Amino acid sequence: MARRDCYRSSTRIKSLLPRLARSKEARPFHGDYQDRGSLNKGIAIYPGSFDPPTNGHLDLIERGSKIFEELVVAILRNSEKSPMFSVAERLEMLRELTAGLSNVRIDTFDGLMVEYAKSIQATCVLRGIRAISDYEYELQMALMNRKIEPTLETVFMMPADKYSYVSSRLVREVAQVGGPVKGLVPEVVEQRLREKVEPAYKLGEPQLVEVPRKRKRKA
Ligand code: PNS
Repeated sequence: MARRDCYRSSTRIKSLLPRLARSKEARPFHGDYQDRGSLNKGIAIYPGSFDPPTNGHLDLIERGSKIFEELVVAILRNSEKSPMFSVAERLEMLRELTAGLSNVRIDTFDGLMVEYAKSIQATCVLRGIRAISDYEYELQMALMNRKIEPTLETVFMMPADKYSYVSSRLVREVAQVGGPVKGLVPEVVEQRLREKVEPAYKLGEPQLVEVPRKRKRKA
């Protein structure tokens, strides 16, 4: 290569360097760009009761939708517990709440979760872990699922720490006696809870409870 051509190539490379430095490949992993943590492979299933869906669930769905190609939120139909919301109500709420996430689909399932996962070609199960107390149950379930279907991998994710104490059970418990659930569940869910518990209670407002007076004993 002639000296002049060599000079030209090195000048061209130098002019490309800033562009390369700005490109995704050259960015450090701790950069704050969108694709960070992306696996973007295959279908994952996020199974649960979602009775009702909480902000913690929503947080996890958003996180899951960023790392998987497709995320199927699957509501268990044959739960033994007597639910507060019917499966149809939960399906409707979750569909409304995830309408802006194009790779998230809501469905229901019956029977063994791993069988349903297989039927939709899911390769991963997504579950949330809030605290150590969740771990034992989740580990047991993940290992049992692995025993039944070794090819299905369980992935645990943590919701934002501000939701680390939020559970559907506690939300139901608080709402059922008229306690405030603002910030714990999305507004549409809060509205539905209000409709369920009123007129017995006004959600989030202090209740006047009549305490029966003790009758004085006759001497
Ligand atoms: O939100 P939840 O109630 O903690 O979800 C529990 C759920 C629905 C994921 C779990 O009970 C389940 O997968 N049930 C389906 C039946 C099944 O496959 N059981 C074996 C689990 S080891």
